[in-house]
Amino acid sequence: MNLTPFLSLADFEAAARRTLPHAVYGYVFGGTEDSLSVKANRAVFDRLGFRPRGLTGVANRSQSVNVWGTEYPSPVGIAPMGVTAICRYRCDMDLAVAARSRGLPYVLSGASNVALEDIQENPGGAWYQGYFPGDKQRLERIVQRLLRANVQVLVVTSDTPVAANRENNQRNGFTIPFRPSWRLLLDGMLHPSWSCGVFLKTLRQDGIPRFLNLYEEPGPAITAEPEQGFRGGRDLLTWEHMSWLRDLWPGKLVVKGIMHPGDAEIAVKRGMDAVIVSNHGGRQLDGAMPALAALPGIKAAVPEDFPLMIDGGFRRGTDVLKAVALGARLVFIGRPALYGASVAGAEGAGKVLDILRQEIDRNLALLGCENINELNTDYLDPVQLRSFIGRPL
Ligand code: FNR
Repeated sequence: MNLTPFLSLADFEAAARRTLPHAVYGYVFGGTEDSLSVKANRAVFDRLGFRPRGLTGVANRSQSVNVWGTEYPSPVGIAPMGVTAICRYRCDMDLAVAARSRGLPYVLSGASNVALEDIQENPGGAWYQGYFPGDKQRLERIVQRLLRANVQVLVVTSDTPVAANRENNQRNGFTIPFRPSWRLLLDGMLHPSWSCGVFLKTLRQDGIPRFLNLYEEPGPAITAEPEQGFRGGRDLLTWEHMSWLRDLWPGKLVVKGIMHPGDAEIAVKRGMDAVIVSNHGGRQLDGAMPALAALPGIKAAVPEDFPLMIDGGFRRGTDVLKAVALGARLVFIGRPALYGASVAGAEGAGKVLDILRQEIDRNLALLGCENINELNTDYLDPVQLRSFIGRPL
């Protein structure tokens, strides 16, 4: 596919909207209840402008960042996303390939549909995100599977103790477990390239997509309710389990969904290796503040070198630069990567990452900052910054 006309991440969103059935696009695009947090995740970037420097000499620009001794060529990775099989044939693999081929982190969702062992064999290097139950015996078995698959980074999502109220999915007739209906069939028929290239191809080659990585063993089809339930026991998960996991898990341990400085402090005390500041892309608690707005308070609560990661609403290189200036080391993107893969597989998701990389490079130069590691709040509008962080500088 010729991707030359795709100039920005928004172009991929527009193309995905045309390509995907209405219900599938709605699943990816949507938030919960009144989508307050989805809207806030974008609007927050308008509240913070730049204060660029000039004549600094920016010929040797670098945007690489170091996390736990690993050098990433860009401060960007792909966030975990579940049930991607409905967007593209073996979509998790495309996302993994796109990130890996660019040396960037990819987080495989626990609700994904390609076996993590296949992804670890080639391209490898995936981080794993768990939707964990508060059940130590099961946790221990899942951890054994991750260790066998040579997973190095375990991300535990903390903001999903119960299912969110995704009314838009219900209105579109889209539920998990997935229930086929005439309405969905018609929706599919109106999108023939998706019907042939995703739906029928997946059924023919692999059968009904399954939750292959949610449990210690490959899980059930997305049309069935598993014995354990999808979310069974998640409301029992506490920091005590995280401390217990810390003792059990030899790799890096990250908590995703941290929004409160107090929780960031606990994460540090309990030996976590990083946190991802996130409101789940506005897909859990509607009305939760944007992650970017939570970042300054969290930055102030953790030691200087503690890696802070963030996601939610990042669509431009300048968005990434604002988060880095406020103290984030890595920024994850969700929906845009999935739109890219929906439109053009690994190539499409890769182009999304490339566009962000180019935007970061160009805007670093325009900011007068040669090395992204030197970016700080001095590059932000001081008046806006003061009201943004809600306390004196
Ligand atoms: C998600 N997200 C998510 N998070 C997680 O921890 N586990 C998961 O399985 C999923 N699944 C998922 C599916 C889809 C379709 C989307 C869009 C998102 C949330 C994701 O990791 C991330 O927090 C947000 O997507 C970031 O916001 P943006 O970049 O999508 O605005």
